[in-house]
Amino acid sequence: MNYGERIAVRSRREFELMREAGRHVAEILLKLREIAKPGVSGSELEELASREIQERGLHSSFKGYSPGGLPPYPAVLCVSVNEEIVHGIPGSREMREGDILSLDFGVNCNGFHGDSAVTVPIGKVSGEAARLIETTRDALYEAVSVMVPGRRLSDIGHAVQARAEADGFSVVRQFVGHGIGRQMHEPPQVPNYGRPGRGPRLQSGMVFAIEPMVNAGTERVQMLDDEWTAITEDRRLSAHFEHTVAITEDGPEVLTKIDGSH
Ligand code: MF3
Ligand code: CO
Repeated sequence: MNYGERIAVRSRREFELMREAGRHVAEILLKLREIAKPGVSGSELEELASREIQERGLHSSFKGYSPGGLPPYPAVLCVSVNEEIVHGIPGSREMREGDILSLDFGVNCNGFHGDSAVTVPIGKVSGEAARLIETTRDALYEAVSVMVPGRRLSDIGHAVQARAEADGFSVVRQFVGHGIGRQMHEPPQVPNYGRPGRGPRLQSGMVFAIEPMVNAGTERVQMLDDEWTAITEDRRLSAHFEHTVAITEDGPEVLTKIDGSH
């Protein structure tokens, strides 16, 4: 890991603004979950997300985003189904009973970003799918629990990996969590694996987006021709959970969580 870059520490005022961004993301994701049923299409989910952004006077963190020469991301929402790991582009395909659907969503509110993702079952899903979802969420919260001042950055990824592998699943290496603030992606990168006790010490005021991607089979990734959608090499299932989390003197504060959230 390159730990050279500076990690921002937020002021009280900035913290307030990030809370607001996080709350919008949480509220909109809950609305999306409500319509995530058999028959709903990615485009319908995108439309709802886009309308909410407009009505609330927000900006999308995702739409037009173009890191390292990739084509600009064309939507405000990522919709990744079954073997799709992340960055699935919403389209006309309809959800079917037994699918698992990852919704990843971010907004810019008053100059600060919030970023969160959840994987939901569509109707009744297989035992393996249900366990994968539960483990991935648990892995996220294992990571959140070590986000206290004085711990080290690599403790986060270690916590994710330990939980995922204990349950017989694998963690994706190719995509990582990230610092978040005025930019959606800020230093540091936050891998979902690694040895504990490495890297910078966590300080009160740092805010990270923690986003484990956990696979039922191999951790290996393949990219689709759209240059965005990542899928599992073995086409087995993948789940993704994400929260924007602030480190405070009183412990971790999950900025993208409200009542009823993941
Ligand atoms: N949570 C994802 C990430 O941090 C969302 C990015 S979607 C993109 O990578 F389109 F904006 F890239
Ligand atoms: Co993210």
